[in-house]
Amino acid sequence: MKVSIIGGGGRVGSNAAFALQCAGIVSEIHILDANEKMAAGEALDLLHGTSIAGDQKIYAGNYDRCSDADMIVITAGLRRKPDESRLDLINRNVSLFKQILDSLKGAGLKNDAIIFVVSNPVDVLTRLAIEHLKRDPSKVIGLGTQLDTARFRSLIASETKLPPTQVKALILGEHGDSMVPIWSTATVGGIPLIKLADFNGTAQQRIFERTKKSGAEAIELKGGAGWAVALSIAEVIHPIALNQPAVLPISSQLTGEYGIRNTCFSVPTLVGRAGVIKRHEIELWPREASGLTASAKALDVTFAQVQK
Ligand code: 2OP
Repeated sequence: MKVSIIGGGGRVGSNAAFALQCAGIVSEIHILDANEKMAAGEALDLLHGTSIAGDQKIYAGNYDRCSDADMIVITAGLRRKPDESRLDLINRNVSLFKQILDSLKGAGLKNDAIIFVVSNPVDVLTRLAIEHLKRDPSKVIGLGTQLDTARFRSLIASETKLPPTQVKALILGEHGDSMVPIWSTATVGGIPLIKLADFNGTAQQRIFERTKKSGAEAIELKGGAGWAVALSIAEVIHPIALNQPAVLPISSQLTGEYGIRNTCFSVPTLVGRAGVIKRHEIELWPREASGLTASAKALDVTFAQVQK
């Protein structure tokens, strides 16, 4: 499978390319960036590793090289300031995002190519991509709360000294300030997390708050996320590239699940080579369900502003 990474000269895009190279799940990685020199440099640096990582075609190129891509990953965008919410980014990023979409339209895309939005605010831009490209919504996904879920699981494991790969705990809704922790189904090795001794509500709330602020924390400490977001991107590409469907908390356009329609945000979503196969409506505690409703409302308000 060929993947084009728009913004591949930046931290998130280049780290995602490296994660894909190490995972060996795609055959071709095309790096595109407004900073053409950086794109060429990242592509060359990655190519230098192909004798170790494996035989993948890796190169830099412009939009014309997107026309035969099976997946277009869009990571380009201005980074959030530490005290800026993701939604505040919308006005600074939406014109850049629309230019990218228009360039993709100009290049022509394969009918079955998947558009994978990472740029923030990811849920609003995912919906914008569907509407601007007039594309089958099942072929447009956003990273959504996949990264937040990864952070949530890792921080829970770090606090409880449990194996991180065995901690299963979801963040759903917006990749942003209104994201919702789903404790009702959180487990470790099949044990409900809320039943764990000395992991009380205060610890739970502290971990969720730290999860929610992790993006800003990474920006404050190192200028922005890179490694965990790259692993999260590769985690989403894996089921698509290998057509081994998986249920992931990624952003897509809801069609009535939880009573929500047209909003793009994260619910458990079965995804495979064809894109979104099915969104699952899992049973939630009342406060979790109301959190999702509030999250959808926040996103709809912002999307309406963007449209004006
Ligand atoms: C984050 O939360 C990049 O939005 C991403 O760090």
